[in-house]
Amino acid sequence: MIRQLSACLAVLLPFAAFAQDPPPVARIASPDATLQVEVTTDPEGRASYSVSRHGKPVIAPSRLGILLTDAPKLERNLQLVAQEIRAHDETWEQPWGERRFVRDRHNELRVTFAERAGAGRRFDVVFRVFDDGVGFRYDFPDQDALRQVNIADELTEFVVADPATAWWIPALEWNRKEYIYQRTPLTEVGYAQTPLTLRTDDGLHLAFHEAALLDYSAMNLMRVQDRRLRAVLFPGTGVAKVARTAPFATPWRVVLVSEDAGGLAESDLVLNLNAPNALGDVSWVRPMKYLGIWWEMHLDTKTWASGPRHGATTEHALRFIDFAAEHGIGGVLIEGWNVGWDGDWFANGEAFSFTEPYPDFDLERVAAHAQAKGVRLIGHHETSGHAAHYESQLDDALDLYQRLGIGAIKTGYVADGGQIKVLGEDGTLHQAWHEGQAMSRHHIKVITEAAKRRIGLNPHEPIKDSGLRRTYPNWMTREGARGMEYNAWGLPGNPPEHEATLVFTRMLDGPFDFTPGVFVMNTKSGEKIATTLAKQLALYVVIYSPLQMAVDLPEHYAARMDAFQFIKDVAVDWEDSRVLNGEIGEFVTIARRERGGDDWYLGAVTDGEARELQVPLSFLDAGRRYTAQIYRDGPDAGWQHNQTDLEIEEREVGANDTLTLRLAPGGGQAIRFVAD
Ligand code: NOJ
Ligand code: CA
Repeated sequence: MIRQLSACLAVLLPFAAFAQDPPPVARIASPDATLQVEVTTDPEGRASYSVSRHGKPVIAPSRLGILLTDAPKLERNLQLVAQEIRAHDETWEQPWGERRFVRDRHNELRVTFAERAGAGRRFDVVFRVFDDGVGFRYDFPDQDALRQVNIADELTEFVVADPATAWWIPALEWNRKEYIYQRTPLTEVGYAQTPLTLRTDDGLHLAFHEAALLDYSAMNLMRVQDRRLRAVLFPGTGVAKVARTAPFATPWRVVLVSEDAGGLAESDLVLNLNAPNALGDVSWVRPMKYLGIWWEMHLDTKTWASGPRHGATTEHALRFIDFAAEHGIGGVLIEGWNVGWDGDWFANGEAFSFTEPYPDFDLERVAAHAQAKGVRLIGHHETSGHAAHYESQLDDALDLYQRLGIGAIKTGYVADGGQIKVLGEDGTLHQAWHEGQAMSRHHIKVITEAAKRRIGLNPHEPIKDSGLRRTYPNWMTREGARGMEYNAWGLPGNPPEHEATLVFTRMLDGPFDFTPGVFVMNTKSGEKIATTLAKQLALYVVIYSPLQMAVDLPEHYAARMDAFQFIKDVAVDWEDSRVLNGEIGEFVTIARRERGGDDWYLGAVTDGEARELQVPLSFLDAGRRYTAQIYRDGPDAGWQHNQTDLEIEEREVGANDTLTLRLAPGGGQAIRFVAD
């Protein structure tokens, strides 16, 4: 169901251009007037925009422009020649997600810039102003003076008006997006990836990101000076970082603005800036929990490669499927099933076959067994970053999985930054970045080919999420940050504040296949993982992913059925989601109502500090009673000792009650509210 709440209003206001006039200023406010945007040019014809909140600057005047490889840059001698304003208010339905209905309410300002001299090239900048942030993009019309657009870089700037603290990971580094978040003054940020999250000294929360990253290079942010950030695109495979033919529009550049951290995490702005579902019926995209032949390889007790410790054997797979069927877990991932893992698989992407199983893995038998048990296999395609090799087998690989009834695939692009292999237009292999234009195209190719076969995707070492799941709802989840695997072998592992940071950084861009659920909390060298058992349960609510893994081994779950019950119960698809409290990198509490049901689930996590959080239950239906099934850290629990000390309690509650959540150092709390 889609509810159209109001129609659009378009006003075209061409500017009269007299040389002696001051440059025109175009203005637009958000629907409830919280945010205002101004766009203008300076006397040299340099275009800029600014954003204020209740009249107070948030983004000081910041440049707009594009640097080209083969023509003068689009930045000087510009004139604002026209503007067009429209209002938009609609509510659309997500096939799956954090909430069923999403309201898209914004005011749009389209400004047209034209060069005062020379070739007279033109481009539009389109601003969409929401009450919780702003998106804008360049839109290049069809024109003789600028048809082939070879972009050296964007000159888009974001000048942060006030001093701020930043949470960020470095850009263009070898380990892609898998870095521990740094917290520094904004003035110590170097070269950062997005989402980049800030809290100003006045307590305003900002996040910079992008939406609808299609056929373009992803954007990083470089601090040029003081609080001035500039867009820097990932390199391409040639001189230009991006090569496009007009007409086309760039991805949206996004600034989220919120009084509290929770407002950033609740924002739907990035999704709203993406185009509606392009795939039609997507009822075949099924959110689910899954087990996997996976954690053992990261602990080094099994191998992806063939040999005596090979993980993906027929017998081992059948065991996982049986355990999943017995406990109502929807899927099983099997890694290391296909030929190509022997030797240095990080470097030998061309060795992978995506159709030939290892001899000790009877793919047909395993698939038939899964089908008979009502369990869905999750396929696995590790490419080692050889995207060209993968594409050469893509049709056969997807056809095979479709024939076997496999509804979702985890892909992987393990290669250092800049070491992806793609096929250039000249037919030869080129080195590329994971988030450059070539990989943006590659992912869309895989997504659309998979959609034809009713298969969902979960890429690891991916391109960043920019909300394209709205347009391609089979793009279910992805990695793109430090996940649980770092707690098996990471040096160091993830710190105790990691998840409370992720919610307000990486998670702002979309679902994350973080892979929670470790019950035996040791790294492969026997050290403690910085977590408690209660926190592992809380992560099923705190970290949103429609494919949500239970990483540990069946025997470890069997030994703690009391705690595993929460993983069995918790939903993966939601009617609604609320961030009840939170501070970046310190703590967060999230409540979600299951899709198509009345039960609510709550997860709270903390950093290395113990905390007591008062949580009013006003999100529950007034007048209804609920049984709260509470999974909390025991009195002696903590991430450094007694990690598995867990108290489970049942209590009757209602919307007027307030719960006190007690979280151990590095701990958490998970609650299921069963509607009576
Ligand atoms: C890295 C992925 O993040 C991990 O989940 C996977 O097991 C390995 N690559 C092998 O594909
Ligand atoms: Ca990874």
